[in-house]
Amino acid sequence: MSEIVRTIEIKNEKDTEKFGLSLAKSLKAGDVVALIGDLGTGKTALTSYIAKGLDIKRRISSPTFTIVKEYEEGRLPLYHFDVYRVFDEDELFNIGIEEYFYGKGVCLIEWADLIMNILPENTKYIYLEYGNKEGERVYKCTF
Ligand SMILES: Nc1ncnc2c1ncn2[C@@H]1O[C@H](COP(=O)(O)OP(=O)(O)OP(=O)(O)O)[C@@H](O)[C@H]1O
Ligand SMILES: [Mg+2]
Repeated sequence: MSEIVRTIEIKNEKDTEKFGLSLAKSLKAGDVVALIGDLGTGKTALTSYIAKGLDIKRRISSPTFTIVKEYEEGRLPLYHFDVYRVFDEDELFNIGIEEYFYGKGVCLIEWADLIMNILPENTKYIYLEYGNKEGERVYKCTF
């Protein structure tokens, strides 16, 4: 696993939005972003701000009944994964996860710590943690 190279102090959801919008600008085809953090730390919220930064107008909701939701209308295709309920890696190979990884879009993966073994070498990791006050978060990034 790569090391943490920066720590971002998030004071409120507006900061999460700013971070998401700016991260979206830097993303390119083939990027894989692993979102790792406890329930409610804001993996879906951050995904929705990254999506906004990619000019995706549709509302992002968690892919509950499917492993992945695809949004093709933005600057880059966005593939939003939630692997919380994935039972084994075969399920992911069966949906063609490698084609998503090496495809024309960006993969954002909630609960990526559960599938660490199969993530590509160039994966960007964001560890999301709760801060001390309501709305506060700490993001630790490997990029
Ligand atoms: N700074 C913040 N960044 C993101 N979300 C925040 C922040 N402060 C408060 N919130 C709230 O925390 C909640 C985060 O929920 P969200 O569904 O994004 O978490 P999650 O990590 O995706 O959870 P799950 O593990 O269930 O998928 C939202 O209700 C959001 O409004
Ligand atoms: Mg979520």
